Amino acid sequence: MTEALSPKAIIVTGGAGFIGSNFVHWVVDNQPDVHVTVLDALTYAGNLENLAGIPEDRMSFLHGNICDAELVDELFAKTDAVVHFAAESHNDNSIADPTPFLKTNVEGTFTLLQAARKHDVRFHHISTDEVYGDLALDDPARFTEETPYHPSSPYSSTKASSDMLVRAWVRTYGVQATISNCSNNYGPRQHIEKFIPRQITNILSGIRPKLYGDGKNVRDWIHTEDHSSAVWEILTRGRIGETYLIGADGERNNINVLRAILAEMGKAEDDFDWVRDRPGHDRRYAIDSTKLRTELGWQPKHTDFAKGLAATIKWYEENRAWWESVKQQTEAKYAAQGQ
Ligand code: NAD
Ligand code: DAU
Repeated sequence: MTEALSPKAIIVTGGAGFIGSNFVHWVVDNQPDVHVTVLDALTYAGNLENLAGIPEDRMSFLHGNICDAELVDELFAKTDAVVHFAAESHNDNSIADPTPFLKTNVEGTFTLLQAARKHDVRFHHISTDEVYGDLALDDPARFTEETPYHPSSPYSSTKASSDMLVRAWVRTYGVQATISNCSNNYGPRQHIEKFIPRQITNILSGIRPKLYGDGKNVRDWIHTEDHSSAVWEILTRGRIGETYLIGADGERNNINVLRAILAEMGKAEDDFDWVRDRPGHDRRYAIDSTKLRTELGWQPKHTDFAKGLAATIKWYEENRAWWESVKQQTEAKYAAQGQ
């Protein structure tokens, strides 16, 4: 039986990114006694504005790389727990150039694990449902914690590698770690390279949305705040060495998600372009989160997808300064790939 953890000081790697920053806000809003130190390299995906408004006495920001062993060692000496979000996170980028994915996702996780081992620090590793590969559209199955690993892309294979490192460090060195594998997140502050914000900001910029392949690929959408609450439950009450799948029963195919965006933004349902498919494109992801729900009593709150999507669209409408400066370069990268 693992004892419940009541951390007073936690490190959040990748806390200036989409999900990491949401988690930091969630902790600051919901756990008044916890101080957060964010360690983030501020890559193209990190943005300090994501942490705006957080009181100075609740959070410190450290600009640094998770591959910097000396820095990580120093930091881990004075914390109760680490939640590891930092990663290269975008599949299309990993297909264009896998190199930074190997560096951050594999070597970076290795560096953190070595420090967690040395300082006996509680470590929660954030991973993805993509490590399980994909399911057929007509398959009634969903991923569970027992599904064999079968990653398809350079991104998902590096995340699978990092999960394997965590498991080995638990078994061989007794590192106090847990892992969660979550499905597709949506919500405010997601980088505009990703599907939902790309289409919203295309429409806001007078560009037609872009749909890959036949548009029938299915993703299992969860609001990022629900991801955050699940991570907190696992960090504080999860069993050491265990993996928990996080999902909110949100399976939807891409064309239906795009049509919901078009409708919400007053556009015709065929006002988009079909573009070249992603090589190796996973067909369907689906999560069975029974273990998390029954063992830790977690429940998602944002189960109304239409409402969550409308609020997300509103956020991009009201925060143009946050994304407009990177829109042109993001679209130029896609255009060069025929997407
Ligand atoms: P993101 O790309 O928005 O943010 C990644 C953050 O990590 C950025 O702030 C970036 O600056 C930082 N970072 C990257 N390399 C670093 C390094 N070497 N050292 C320190 N910081 C570094 O990613 P996201 O979408 O918020 O995803 C966060 C985590 O959640 C990732 O581990 C990802 O695999 C996982 N995940 C994402 C989703 C999703 O739908 N986006 C779903 C499941 C799991
Ligand atoms: O499942 C969890 C994963 O979800 C995370 O591990 C990843 O970090 C995260 O990026 C996400 O991966 P996907 O590849 O599923 O997300 P993306 O937003 O890139 O694409 C979602 C779907 O939309 C996918 O089927 C590809 C499609 N797509 C994407 C873009 C950018 C389009 O049809 N058009 C687009 O313009």
